[in-house]
Amino acid sequence: MSTKLAIIGAGRMASALVDGLLAKGTYTKDRISCIGGAEDNTADLLAKRTGVRKAKDLPDLLKDADVVVVAFKPQHLSSADPRLADLTAGKLVISILAGKPLAQLEKKFSRTRALVRTMPNTPAAIGAGITGWSVAKPLSESDRSAVLGILDAIGKQVEVPESEIDALMAVSSCGPAYLFEFAGALREAGIAAGLDRATSQLLAIEMLLGSAKLLAQSGAEPEDLRNQVTSPNGTTFAALKRFEAHHFRDMVKDAILAAKARSEELSREA
Ligand SMILES: NC(=O)c1ccc[n+]([C@@H]2O[C@H](COP(=O)([O-])OP(=O)(O)OC[C@H]3O[C@@H](n4cnc5c(N)ncnc54)[C@H](OP(=O)(O)O)[C@@H]3O)[C@@H](O)[C@H]2O)c1
Repeated sequence: MSTKLAIIGAGRMASALVDGLLAKGTYTKDRISCIGGAEDNTADLLAKRTGVRKAKDLPDLLKDADVVVVAFKPQHLSSADPRLADLTAGKLVISILAGKPLAQLEKKFSRTRALVRTMPNTPAAIGAGITGWSVAKPLSESDRSAVLGILDAIGKQVEVPESEIDALMAVSSCGPAYLFEFAGALREAGIAAGLDRATSQLLAIEMLLGSAKLLAQSGAEPEDLRNQVTSPNGTTFAALKRFEAHHFRDMVKDAILAAKARSEELSREA
């Protein structure tokens, strides 16, 4: 893009974003600037590692940027520099702050031309994330393509009404933890069934990876692919009967609803 991008916060998510943007060529390094917090080590590291510019202060960061990504911790929003309202006036601002609703972001970034709330997940670190995003007001054609260009750098994206963000967070942002827990459980179960730890972990990881790819690439329903490996009264059938006996689907639903409720609670406290 020919515009300039400013990133406020230079930690893990900012790094993942910069890596993705440079790898995809969405922005060149001379068009990206960043700044960290009081410690400011992170901005130094990011600038040294990737060649993007470390700004000396917020006015320097934002002076000629057209698009601004807000990537510090959510708890820093309320104490963030009050000059941000004026410094981001007329710009496109994209927040990746978990649990910070648009209404709250609008108070800090009150003069933007457009404000976007996003909710990424940790696979963004390797460009394999899925990011949900919401806006209060429809974006112009060019702002929309700028948003998509930026989010495409860290994986896939989906626009949802803000009323669905807590549900999305419960599924895709908390989701990596569910999968890691399942991978660990599978490894432990494999050990109980007689495998050594390393083999069991390798089998669990590669099975999850391959199955997720097959699911994504086939375009089939998960249940159809499940049925393809489940012959009547066979081995998979024996295992799935146990899943059913332990109310696996109810348990997953209960867990997701608990995460959604907690996300709503945290947004209200924010
Ligand atoms: N990690 C994830 O998987 C994930 C997923 C979804 C959403 N998010 C969101 O992404 C955001 C960043 O998370 P992260 O994991 O990248 O955090 P992180 O690695 O801790 O990085 C936070 C960055 O913010 C900087 N910072 C602190 N206070 C600041 C301030 N007042 N003004 C400007 N910058 C400030 C820090 O700088 P110094 O340390 O150098 O001072 C650091 O560069 C969070 O809002 C989180 O909710 C993260």
